Amino acid sequence: MHYTHNFNPTISDEAIFEAVVAEKEEIGYYNLGFCDTTPYKEFAKGVKQNNIVVIGIGGSTLGTYAIYKYLKHSRDLQKQLIFLETTDPIDIKSKVEKIDLEDTLFLVISKSGTTLETISIFKYINSLITCNADNTVIITENDSKLKSYAVANKMQTFEIPKNVGGRFSVFSAVGLLPLAIVGIDIGELLIGVKKAHDSFFNKQELYKRLIKKARFLVEYKYSFNINVVFSYSSRLEGFNKWYIQLWGESLGKVDINNTRQGLTPIGIIGPIDQHSFLQLIVEGRRDKTVTVIKVENFDNELKIPDVRLKGLEEMEYINNISFADMINKQADATIESIQNLNDIPCDVITIDGICESAIASLMYEYELLTSLCARFMYINAYDQPGVEAGKKILKEKLQK
Ligand code: PA5
Repeated sequence: MHYTHNFNPTISDEAIFEAVVAEKEEIGYYNLGFCDTTPYKEFAKGVKQNNIVVIGIGGSTLGTYAIYKYLKHSRDLQKQLIFLETTDPIDIKSKVEKIDLEDTLFLVISKSGTTLETISIFKYINSLITCNADNTVIITENDSKLKSYAVANKMQTFEIPKNVGGRFSVFSAVGLLPLAIVGIDIGELLIGVKKAHDSFFNKQELYKRLIKKARFLVEYKYSFNINVVFSYSSRLEGFNKWYIQLWGESLGKVDINNTRQGLTPIGIIGPIDQHSFLQLIVEGRRDKTVTVIKVENFDNELKIPDVRLKGLEEMEYINNISFADMINKQADATIESIQNLNDIPCDVITIDGICESAIASLMYEYELLTSLCARFMYINAYDQPGVEAGKKILKEKLQK
């Protein structure tokens, strides 16, 4: 008797780990924590403009926005980052109107160099002000058409390595350059990345929990197909958007047996979404896992004052409580209420505080989790063939 098969066998943790270690040789994002930040810091020192406009979309902006949004109110930043990402004319106009274009540096970021949204916005900006070597920097792949354009116009360029995919590129020039220019400590960001890297690849705490989590998410994907990230800080709104892109674009794929795979990412913010989506989690279908993200230390003393409001005496129990304490207790109450139900898979990530290394560790952790889930699902996390058809149709429509 002879027997062959192409079933997806259950993979051992060891086999997954070895596959990821092997993948690390070719997929560039794993090693970005060890890159040399000197060129970005040196360039940043010479930037005179106060407005830094990032023109890009998807992986070319979302990670940078996530970090900027998380840190900007806790840092004394002298420059502001503005993101031009969409072809929505009202968005473009309203942002451009608010800035002094003469005091602006434009960072045009596109790995492929031919992304419609990015080039359309760049053309528009060019109609308002001459973009030249003094006010424009190009971040792209080494052999893209955008790179040729930059060279022809003597513009400064930074490279996006070929083996670093857009949504995994935040710790390359894509994120590090704009963040360094506005004054975020990119050295500290990479310390956070390395911490997560070492914990995972030395098979310490991060390895143990990520491999367990990825296995659970994939093995139970038909029961719990939706993964809700419930972030208890408005500063994590950018992180949520980045996670949705990372998870959706990386994991929505056809596997080696032609079976459709995918886990659906949802990103919500506490306590705001306690007053909306939480009802669906608690009483709706049991098709969701929930990951609550808490911030240990908000580094902020804002308090509910000791004020008596006539008619609202029953609310005096909230007096003197700090808002940081309040939001964390709200998170704890939500967690406890979900865990009491015993039929909603729920995990809690508590990040140290509002600092570079904390947000960077969290983001690298999610990149690793994405790679692990993709391995478990026998899919390629790093391509996105599903978005090509729409681009082709659009081109035909625009050429007519
Ligand atoms: O993750 C990806 O690859 C995509 O989301 C890209 O980042 C996005 O399409 C933008 O592409 P580009 O950087 O080539 O302009």
